[in-house]
Amino acid sequence: MPIPKAELHLHIEGTLEPELAFELAARNGVELPYADTEELRKAYLFDDLQSFLDLYYGLMAVLRTEADFEDLADAYLARAAAQGVRHAEIFFDPQAHIARGVPIATVIEGLARALDRSEERHGVSTRLIMCFLRDQSAESAMETLHAARPHLDRIIGVGLDSAEVGHPPAKFKEVYEAAAALGLRLVAHAGEEGPPAYITEALDVLRVERVDHGLRCMEDPELVERLVRERVPLTLCPLSNVRLRAIDVLEEHPLARMMDAGLMCTVNSDDPAYFGGYVDDTFHAVREALGIDQERLRTLARNSFEAAFLDRDAADEAL
Ligand code: HPA
Ligand code: ZN
Repeated sequence: MPIPKAELHLHIEGTLEPELAFELAARNGVELPYADTEELRKAYLFDDLQSFLDLYYGLMAVLRTEADFEDLADAYLARAAAQGVRHAEIFFDPQAHIARGVPIATVIEGLARALDRSEERHGVSTRLIMCFLRDQSAESAMETLHAARPHLDRIIGVGLDSAEVGHPPAKFKEVYEAAAALGLRLVAHAGEEGPPAYITEALDVLRVERVDHGLRCMEDPELVERLVRERVPLTLCPLSNVRLRAIDVLEEHPLARMMDAGLMCTVNSDDPAYFGGYVDDTFHAVREALGIDQERLRTLARNSFEAAFLDRDAADEAL
């Protein structure tokens, strides 16, 4: 039995398995530039974040209708349940869909159709986190926040993803202030490829409650000290770090050292269809590669509920 856990760093578009991509392509009359699922899977060899993002945004072409988003989310939730996930906080990238002519209502209502049935069908409670694409303008992010306003009852918070280097968190100060004023919770990717200073900026300027990745904090001992003192949760994604070449091999991942330092670590799958594993696969992989024992895996699972946007009672119940 997999350890019960919460998944806090998961891009729903990154759960699009090649088989479903071809099924949706056929349903929507979209031509994919790959002969079959095998050829597509072979394209999953990345040099860095950008080469992954190029494929990730390209494949989204198959997602067109509410039913497509529903099927995508339902397939993830079924897999997540089998991996011991009891609670999932799911990112989505509305700007990537709006740019293709898919309205934000289609995305959110489609995802919501799967999420609304998730507890009953899969035993997984869910929340949605809307991400802004940091390589687009702050104005575009603000427009997206406005476009989401009729759907805010479906969204727990906002995040920041896509190409990190050259797009520091401070660029999105106003939109994060506006999101906070609307009662939304705040997270952001920082310190994945970007420098430790981006983590500090996400905390001080955007006022995020969790840092997604945060891997590169290890280059700055004072920052580590602060993250420990303030018990800032980090949503780490070890398999992603290896596939996107932030780390050469899993054996060199700093997760064990980060836990030794007292950081509030969680382990997540990021874009599991692309990175070779869902969250319990990741737990197994870090156990094998880093010698993280069962007791520490339980700590990671406990951290995931503590760091979730659940009220205390719900988190305790899930444990
Ligand atoms: N990093 C940044 N942006 C992303 C990622 C990621 O790992 N996955 C999907 N969008
Ligand atoms: Zn991510």
